[in-house]
Amino acid sequence: MKGLFLTIEGLDGAGKTTQVKLLQEWFRKQGYDPLFTREPGGTRAGDAIRNLLLNREYTGLVPVAEALLYAASRAQLVAEVIRPALARGRLVVCDRFVDSSIAYQAYGRGLPRAFVEEINRQATGGLKPRLTILLDLEPDLREERLRGQGRQAWDRLEAETGDFYTRVREGYLALARENRDRIKVIPARQSIEEVHRQVLEHITKIL
Ligand code: TYD
Repeated sequence: MKGLFLTIEGLDGAGKTTQVKLLQEWFRKQGYDPLFTREPGGTRAGDAIRNLLLNREYTGLVPVAEALLYAASRAQLVAEVIRPALARGRLVVCDRFVDSSIAYQAYGRGLPRAFVEEINRQATGGLKPRLTILLDLEPDLREERLRGQGRQAWDRLEAETGDFYTRVREGYLALARENRDRIKVIPARQSIEEVHRQVLEHITKIL
């Protein structure tokens, strides 16, 4: 099989983790052996950066520092993991990629989009996914879901208030409009099975 790069995007709470698990099982049953990885993290340095970004001890990172750290983790992941795997002809599935930074750091935090795009161009060497699945969720549904998941999710929910997630979602939808061939939007409020079915529909087309 030729090297193929897929990414999965969406607001926290959109069900990405569940869909990634279902996808892993499906690939295994089909006899494919894709490499699954996630952002931030996926390398030793990347995991350290992930801890810095998601640990509540370090709240108060300014948006530009946050954006550079996500890009740093991504640069390491692309160089150490994604590019070598693609060069060996593997299928690579990444949970979040550059679109997350455009949506969260540019649209969510309000950094200039051109800046976020440029640091990510440097970080990835311009690597683009062949297909991106965007699990689209309305921010109020997101709150409901996370509240149902208990304390840890609720902590993260409390950490961001106001229109942050509305802006992040708008960012994702703007990216989808600009990249109709690459980004496929799936409404995440549907049942898990239906979302999975639609994910497979898009993926099987490019395998
Ligand atoms: P994670 O625990 O992986 O959340 P999820 O399971 O929802 O993917 O945490 C990732 C968090 O980091 C999530 O809130 C989105 C955010 N993020 C950015 O803000 N920018 C980025 O470039 C990436 C990759 C993630």
